[in-house]
Amino acid sequence: MPKVLISGAGGQLASTLATRLVQLPTFEVYPYNRQAWDVTDQQTSTEIFDYVQPDVYFNGSAIHNEEWVLKDVGRAFDVNVVSQNHILDLCNKHKTKFVNISTNYIYGGDESDNKLNLPPSIPSPFTVYGVSKLSFELILKMRCNDWINFRVSGVFGQNGSCQKNGLNFPFQVLNHLLSNDPMYVNDTDITNISYTEDIVSSILLNNFFEKSAVKNCHRNLINEGVVTWYEVATYIARLFNKQNLIYPVKKDNRRNTSLSLSLQIPCWKDAISRFIINDVTKIGKYKKLFGYNSQINQTKWYEFEREDE
Ligand SMILES: NC(=O)c1ccc[n+]([C@@H]2O[C@H](COP(=O)([O-])OP(=O)(O)OC[C@H]3O[C@@H](n4cnc5c(N)ncnc54)[C@H](OP(=O)(O)O)[C@@H]3O)[C@@H](O)[C@H]2O)c1
Repeated sequence: MPKVLISGAGGQLASTLATRLVQLPTFEVYPYNRQAWDVTDQQTSTEIFDYVQPDVYFNGSAIHNEEWVLKDVGRAFDVNVVSQNHILDLCNKHKTKFVNISTNYIYGGDESDNKLNLPPSIPSPFTVYGVSKLSFELILKMRCNDWINFRVSGVFGQNGSCQKNGLNFPFQVLNHLLSNDPMYVNDTDITNISYTEDIVSSILLNNFFEKSAVKNCHRNLINEGVVTWYEVATYIARLFNKQNLIYPVKKDNRRNTSLSLSLQIPCWKDAISRFIINDVTKIGKYKKLFGYNSQINQTKWYEFEREDE
C-alpha cells in the first residue's frame, strides 16, 4: 500500500487530495498542515521522512499570493524553493517519488506570446512568485531521481485558498452575486481553470502515485478550455440569472498564461457546474442564491449547459 506524505495539507488543493485519499483503501495517507509541519524546518522534514518512509511526497505547500511574496521574498523562496530542495534530497535518499505542484504563472511574461491565442511554450514568469516556482521546477528536473511536476491554473475547490481569505475566483463571483454588487472582470488575459476534484481524479485515474507510473516529466492539470476571467464570471452569474452584475474590463495588452491540455479533463463549464452543485450548495451562506429563479436545479442543469453550447 503506497504511503503518501502530504505537506500544506490544510490548503485548497492538498485538502481535497487528502480527503479523497483517506477514503481509498489503497493508500496510507500522512497529511500534515503547516502547524504540524513547517516545511522550512529542515530538522522536522528529516524526522518526518524517517518516521513515514513515504513512497510518494505531495508538495501542497506554497506561498503563491504575490503580495505576500513581495512582503518577504526570502520567506517565499524558503517555502517554495529552499525547503523543497531539502525535501528533494530526502526523496532521493528514501526512494520517494516527488510530486510537485507548479503554476501557469511560469508563463505570461514574454510579450511575443501575448498576441497569440496558443499556449506559450517558453517559460517566462512575470511575477516573483512565478520565478520561485520556475526555479524549483528546474531544480527538480536537475536533481531529483523520481519526480512528476503538475502545472495547475486558477485553482478552485470546496475549501478556497488560504492565501485568498479562504476564497477562490468562483467564490469571489458568488459573493458579488449574493450582495448584488457589480463586478468588473478582466476580459483580456487568457488562462485556464483547475477544479481540485478534477486534478485529484486525474492523478488517481492515471495512477501517478504508483511506483510504475510515468516519471520525470511535466503534466498540465487544467480543465479543458481557454478562458478569460470575465467568461468564467459570466458563466457563473448566468446560472443565477444575475449576468447583469458582471462587466468586462479590456486592456491593451493581452497576457497569455494558458496551458496546453496534457490529459483528458472535463471542460471548465462542466467543472464549474459540478463545483456549484457538489460544493457550493452545501455552504449555508450561499443558500439564498439557489432561489426559484436560478438555473440551479440538478435535473435542469445539464439542459442549461447544452443550451449554452
Ligand atoms: N490557487 C491558485 O489559483 C493556484 C494557481 C496556480 C497554481 N497554484 C499552486 O497550487 C498549489 C496549491 O495552491 P492552493 O490553492 O491549494 O493554495 P493554499 O490554499 O494557499 O494552500 C497552500 C498551503 O501551503 C501552506 N504553507 C505555506 N507555508 C508553509 C510552510 N512554511 N510549511 C508548510 N505549509 C505551508 C499553507 O498553510 P497556511 O494556510 O497554514 O499558511 C497552505 O495550507 C500551490 O503550489 C500553488 O502555487 C495555485
